[in-house]
Amino acid sequence: MSSPSPTTLADRYAFLQAELARLEHAYYVLDNPLLPDIEYDRLYRELLDIEGTHPEWITSESLSQRVGGTALKEFDSVTHEVPMLSLNNAFEEAELVAFDRRCREGLHADHVAYAGELKFDGLAISLRYENGSLVTAATRGDGASGEDVTANIKTIRAIPLKLTGKNIPQVLEVRGEVFMYLKDFQKMNQQAATLGEKEFANPRNAAAGSLRQLDSKITAKRPLSFFAYGLGALEPQSWLPKTHEELLNTYVELGLPVCSERRVLHSVKEILAFYNEIGAKRDSLPYDIDGVVYKVNSFAEQAKLGFVSRAPRFALAHKYPAQEALTTVLGIDVQVGRTGAITPVARLAPVEVGGVTVTNATLHNEDEVKRKDVRIGDTVSVRRAGDVIPEVVSVIKDRRPQGATEFVMPIRCPVCDSHIERLADEAVARCSGGLFCGAQRKQALIHFAHRRALDIEGLGEKIVDQLVDQNLVRTPADLYRLGFAALANLERMGDKSADNLIQAINASRNTTLARFIFALGIRHVGETTAKDLANHYQSMHALMDANLDELLTVKDVGPVVADSITSFMEEAHNREVIEQLLAGMQLAVEEKSISAAVAGKTFVLTGSFPTLTRDEAKDLLEKAGAKVAGSVSKKTDYVVAGADAGSKLTKAEELGVPVIDEAAMLDLLK
Ligand code: IVH
Repeated sequence: MSSPSPTTLADRYAFLQAELARLEHAYYVLDNPLLPDIEYDRLYRELLDIEGTHPEWITSESLSQRVGGTALKEFDSVTHEVPMLSLNNAFEEAELVAFDRRCREGLHADHVAYAGELKFDGLAISLRYENGSLVTAATRGDGASGEDVTANIKTIRAIPLKLTGKNIPQVLEVRGEVFMYLKDFQKMNQQAATLGEKEFANPRNAAAGSLRQLDSKITAKRPLSFFAYGLGALEPQSWLPKTHEELLNTYVELGLPVCSERRVLHSVKEILAFYNEIGAKRDSLPYDIDGVVYKVNSFAEQAKLGFVSRAPRFALAHKYPAQEALTTVLGIDVQVGRTGAITPVARLAPVEVGGVTVTNATLHNEDEVKRKDVRIGDTVSVRRAGDVIPEVVSVIKDRRPQGATEFVMPIRCPVCDSHIERLADEAVARCSGGLFCGAQRKQALIHFAHRRALDIEGLGEKIVDQLVDQNLVRTPADLYRLGFAALANLERMGDKSADNLIQAINASRNTTLARFIFALGIRHVGETTAKDLANHYQSMHALMDANLDELLTVKDVGPVVADSITSFMEEAHNREVIEQLLAGMQLAVEEKSISAAVAGKTFVLTGSFPTLTRDEAKDLLEKAGAKVAGSVSKKTDYVVAGADAGSKLTKAEELGVPVIDEAAMLDLLK
């Protein structure tokens, strides 16, 4: 939409309200920003300017009201016209089978269709829209009445102040969950830590704490979000679609955020497949869930089944194992990373968290141990989420035994006995041993051999451990001097494997400059930066001799990366290793074979393909000048979908992004 030329200020004001609402919807609901932030800010400031000269025009629906207003003394109470119930929970397959049987018997039906969706770990909210305008937002409370949190809810940009579309009922109570994305939660906690403020234990507490602020200006600063999943009061009743699935689709049309991880399920088998599929990707979802929910899809059938006490008979929450558990700290050790980073790690009494036995949890760094005040002997809450490394969330101080001992950062590296240093402005302490330190050496070698680095198949952790421990290999260059006898003597290594490994090592002599740079394991130089550096310098020696200013001219290289590269190259032993390696290698500078059909286009890959691995497909596309992105947006040109494609495919279909298969992709590349 380009700006029309309105004749009056009132027109311009109305235009700005509509345009800003459209931009917010694109950004917060569709995850597809239409304009750079700075343009949004410019329009928003213009709106504020107009409101400054015409305060009488400001209504409670103005987007300027999202910043929060005067603090309340307490929340008013709101009676729910339709009570907010809870869900019955199931943990076992048998309970699920019983649920389906009860539904079928209650409906005298052979098959029942269920709407499957996620069980978000946030806070239930009821949003009341009258003639399309948000008038009240209330918490669940005791189910019969809750607290009026309208001012706070209005600060959540994913929640429209006005519904869009033509089919808007007089009264619509949208039920759903307020939550916080993991990434926003982490950022918020980091900021709180820097300011010395209290951190929240998990995203759910953060969402709840933010929503229960009496001062909505504070809520406005918290990155809350929302997904709609249910219905309360409705007028007229004739508006009601036939199924839950249709209701959610209608919500999308009204401009409400609805999670795209949802599917209609037709049998217990499909229900279980959905549960397992979501369970498998639970750790990589961008928000916390504690289960999935099945709801009988047809509203007529829901009505027939009705309720028992405070939960519907037509719905069931199928939970996953909890991702947080309590255990005790047996000790606190430190681990040395590939870059020499020293990480304190809590050794724990074994405990089940989210279906996995956890015995170690990271404490990140020295300051973190102090701030959380974790001591040996403490009972702590341990959490696994988002990523796979479990972390200590908090200490249960009430349970601290007498004599619980504090952690002291060692002054020497547990692996090589070099000094541990901590620079004044860094949170992380480091071993100063460099390649001399076995821990760094082992991890540097594993990285060197990585599939996306020099791709030496068969050089895994177990072999590297032995090679380093037996002093057969100190640097990557030593790998190329290994003889058959040395390898065949290693544990768990037969003649055949030794032979294969030698061949793999030799094959890696023919590689690309980009892979070689990446393989060196320079801090902050990931795969993409390595490619950029290779494209820019075209030779290893040119990169080795580049100075700081020079490096800063390379695409996407900032001061931190440039600094890291120059300090790496300044170390005499690093240069020596590089020279030794170069003596026996051929480094190809990859010429991009630009393909007109895909150059400059953005692809997203999902599912598994018949012939290529996803990495191979990515490489082919990148070589042809295409970009490969991780998530689907309106800017995506093609989604390449293979077997078992999931939410990315759904999203592509929703946004109308062309979906092609592997064969069609290969055709484009020809
Ligand atoms: S439906 C009549 N759907 O779970 C059923 N609830 O135990 C009303 N929740 O208070 C709830 N995700 O906070 C429903 N997809 C979902 C949900 C969900 C999370 C929460 C909600 C509610 C609690 C019910």
